[in-house]
Amino acid sequence: MSTWPDTRILDLLGIDVPIIQAPMAGATTAAMVIAANEAGALGSMPAATLSIEQLRAALTSIRQASTRPINVNFFCHQPPAADEERDRRWKALLEPYYRELGADFEAPTPVSDRAPFNDAACQVVEAFRPEVVSFHFGLPEKSLLDRVKATGAKVLSSATTVEEAIWLEQRGCDAIIAMGIEAGGHRGMFLSDDLNSQIGLMALVPQIVDAVTVPVIAAGGIGDARGIVAALALGASAVQIGTAYLFTPEATITASHHHALRHAQASETALTNLFTGRPARGIINRAMRELGAINPMAPAFPRSGGALIPLKAKDEAGFSNLWSGQALRLGKDTSTYELTRELAEQALAKLK
Ligand SMILES: Cc1cc2nc3c(=O)[nH]c(=O)nc-3n(C[C@H](O)[C@H](O)[C@H](O)COP(=O)(O)O)c2cc1C
Repeated sequence: MSTWPDTRILDLLGIDVPIIQAPMAGATTAAMVIAANEAGALGSMPAATLSIEQLRAALTSIRQASTRPINVNFFCHQPPAADEERDRRWKALLEPYYRELGADFEAPTPVSDRAPFNDAACQVVEAFRPEVVSFHFGLPEKSLLDRVKATGAKVLSSATTVEEAIWLEQRGCDAIIAMGIEAGGHRGMFLSDDLNSQIGLMALVPQIVDAVTVPVIAAGGIGDARGIVAALALGASAVQIGTAYLFTPEATITASHHHALRHAQASETALTNLFTGRPARGIINRAMRELGAINPMAPAFPRSGGALIPLKAKDEAGFSNLWSGQALRLGKDTSTYELTRELAEQALAKLK
């Protein structure tokens, strides 16, 4: 496949088509990464919900199947200090649901966790030497980042504002993922927690392109070739696509999530902090409708989800996080390989 108008990302990351299959913790499998790679895109393996052993196993199987460049993705939040009083008040708010659904309110609250990038994770990077490492929620502390860079990995991170993009470039990011408000999953925001700072991709991409010299990758609401061409026209060098890959057989999502993705309207997603404590875009369900999608009582990331786990076990659709971007109606039942090839071929045809 040839003649993309901007080859900076292709040259930087060693890929054939300017598409990054987005890392989606809990949904992306090694099989998805391998298939995206085979189609010439950059496959991304998310680490946030994996143990170190599970991450090693996933990377081993990817490396055995493919010699192409891969991206490994980490969350780099600071785990919060314990706040038992806040946890208690949060669970008390949920008590009526425990009673209604027959969940055991007195049982110890399960722990909801997301792994932050740390020494053990860095050792995995040093052992497997992925060609690309991407971060969400900023960057890890400098000593860890230096170790990642010493492996030769290209470093990417998400920016949700122009200020974040400049901050990331100043700290050595090789490319910036401009994450528009349309995107599914957690907002990558890290310099501010003001949701009013979060803007749409159409406004975000050109302003970031003007503010940094490194290539920009557009993410959020891109579900077909039209979105890819539009992002490139705005100055992006590549796109990162998540929600469209949730429809592929290589995604591991629950039956409720599948059903919601297929039946929700594009207007039925919202930003919510209920499930982890950080704002993330998902399909509106009972918990979001009744507790308010953004509830100030939710404990800090990633603790708030713990008290919801027993409710999720009783009513998965109503109380689990159904992450999705706004372009969900563009999703199609097709394989990761076919989706990636089709996106690239149709975008190229439009660019001629
Ligand atoms: C189910 C789901 C899980 C996600 N998990 C992660 C993650 O682990 N790390 C990350 O950097 N971004 C994560 N994201 C964000 C995606 O990488 C990507 O930026 C986003 O999906 C792009 O927007 P789109 O969904 O509209 O295509 C997730 C998104 C979804 C939908």
